[in-house]
Amino acid sequence: MTKEMAVRIGLVAVVAIVAGPVLVFAQDKGRVTSVGDIMKGIHKPHHGGIGELLKGDGPKDDAAWQQILLHAALLNESGHLLMQNDRCPSKVWAEATGTLRAGASAVHEAAGNKDVEAARAAFKTLTSACGACHKVYRNPLPDRFANVHALMSGINQPNCAAIGKAIKGDGPADDKAWQTLLTQAALLNEAGHLLMQNDRCPDAVWSNAAASLRSASRQVALAARGQNLVNVKKAFGDLTKACGSCHKAHKK
Ligand code: HEC
Ligand code: HEC
Repeated sequence: MTKEMAVRIGLVAVVAIVAGPVLVFAQDKGRVTSVGDIMKGIHKPHHGGIGELLKGDGPKDDAAWQQILLHAALLNESGHLLMQNDRCPSKVWAEATGTLRAGASAVHEAAGNKDVEAARAAFKTLTSACGACHKVYRNPLPDRFANVHALMSGINQPNCAAIGKAIKGDGPADDKAWQTLLTQAALLNEAGHLLMQNDRCPDAVWSNAAASLRSASRQVALAARGQNLVNVKKAFGDLTKACGSCHKAHKK
């Protein structure tokens, strides 16, 4: 090695070290493909392609099996791409890409063996990966997202059960316990309003039951303010009737 060559190699090395991080940065910026692009350009055509070829009697010749091999290979590759370049935001995403890679590999293997049944089973697994990720990431959460189930299990069920328990026997033991009962009645009353909002009410049975819930919970509260256990029990009976009248028609 001449001295001149050694200097040149040294220079290149220095430039590479200095430019290295810059180059990596430039490469990331240059990697312009969005997740939407991957979906439109890879997933839609290659998933659709496999689906078409597996229809009816399945792939009709070697060329058709070759096409499946190609489709599956690209979907497997996509299962890697979706984990790169800061694309993966969560465990759900990572697991879906794992299923995608495994399902695509299994389709690939079945296509290599020209085994239609195995290919169809693997294609099902592959397709489940699409749904698992889309359920979360193609489904934006609206500003107001409590469904009726959330209102029931988070408000109606616990507050109704707590009142039922509190009025057993001699009823609430002290002022604080009566105050708690009032709060529980207030939350059930509020639920009677919430059940009418945000397009939740489908019919008159529903709106009548919600109205009964509001008025019965109000009666519970009025009686609780006077610490009148007999009247609280009576109003609570009406309150649970309101639950039942809606459930009879609307709870599956
Ligand atoms: C790990 C997550 C993930 C997996 C797995 C996944 N997708 Fe997607 N997909 C997305 C996201 C996120 C979007 C929304 C992209 C956007 O609009 O920016 C999307 C959007 C799409 C779209 C709409 C593209 C458009 O903008 O028109 C199609 C079609 C699609 N996916 C097909 C599929 C198919 C078929 C599969 C299974 C083979 C699949 N995806 C698997 C995350 C995923
Ligand atoms: C105006 C209608 C309506 C009223 C009033 C109502 N519910 Fe419900 N409730 C429903 C519907 C609809 C469901 C089924 C929700 C679902 O699973 O999507 C349900 C489900 C439930 C469930 C099962 C949890 C679930 O969603 O899986 C409980 C517990 C429940 N309600 C308790 C109550 C109690 C206690 C009251 C009275 C204080 C009450 N509900 C009043 C409509 C009502």
